[in-house]
Amino acid sequence: MVDAFGGAIGLFDSGVGGLTVVREIRAQLPNESTVYLGDTARVPYGTKSPSTVIRYASACAKVLLARGVKLMIVACNTASAHALEPLRESLDIPVLGVVEPGAQEAVAQTRNGRVGVIGTLGTIRSGEYERAIHTLDPAIEVFGKACPLFVPLAEEGWTCGSVPRAVADQYLSELKRAGIDTLVLGCTHYPLLKDAIAESVGDAITLVDSAAATACVARETLDALGERVDDDRKASHAFLVSDSPDSFSEVGQAFLAQPVDHVEWVDF
Ligand code: DGL
Repeated sequence: MVDAFGGAIGLFDSGVGGLTVVREIRAQLPNESTVYLGDTARVPYGTKSPSTVIRYASACAKVLLARGVKLMIVACNTASAHALEPLRESLDIPVLGVVEPGAQEAVAQTRNGRVGVIGTLGTIRSGEYERAIHTLDPAIEVFGKACPLFVPLAEEGWTCGSVPRAVADQYLSELKRAGIDTLVLGCTHYPLLKDAIAESVGDAITLVDSAAATACVARETLDALGERVDDDRKASHAFLVSDSPDSFSEVGQAFLAQPVDHVEWVDF
């Protein structure tokens, strides 16, 4: 079924996190329509095995393909780490992930060659950030740390105050001791906790959020294909979820910095 969202950019994540990528897409490609799928029935992805994440990611991609999207963005680091290649092999539209753009940005930012990466257990265990950074510069030392509690805090909208700050302090102390000067927020949920993370690590450490870099790659990809909408037609934005739309609208608004209206439940 190809419906009214045909020709849109499709994005998916396990929950609200990937809306941070939608926000950048809207900023950098204001004429493009988007359809976003939050797989809220299956969140979190970060604790699941690679084969389970590949299965979930393939199901999400199928839902978005049925909406006729022209470009797929895996707006989830965990799914990018495990499922990008299988999706690229099986889909006949371009598929972008968020790990490579984040790695590129980290390599561009670091001055002392010591980069921290925080993400879900799955992302950190996969070693994909380390691989992507070392492909660009093998001399950079990469220090990974899984921060699993950040995802439920973000999904709950509990993003500032003493609790997220204490969790950040606990997770990030060893990265600070490692002397990193750059920290990749290797999970699309983490930009919502940016203030707590920044306060915890201090000004000397640059935070890298792959959303802006990913939107930039999306623009280049559409340009290369001659598929970028460059007239001033009005873009439409749709939101799909696999569990209750209510809390998604509420929490999603903070991620998107705009209202998240007309969220549709999809069963898959
Ligand atoms: N936001 C996701 C990521 O970037 C996944 C969070 C989760 O579901 O564990 O990895």
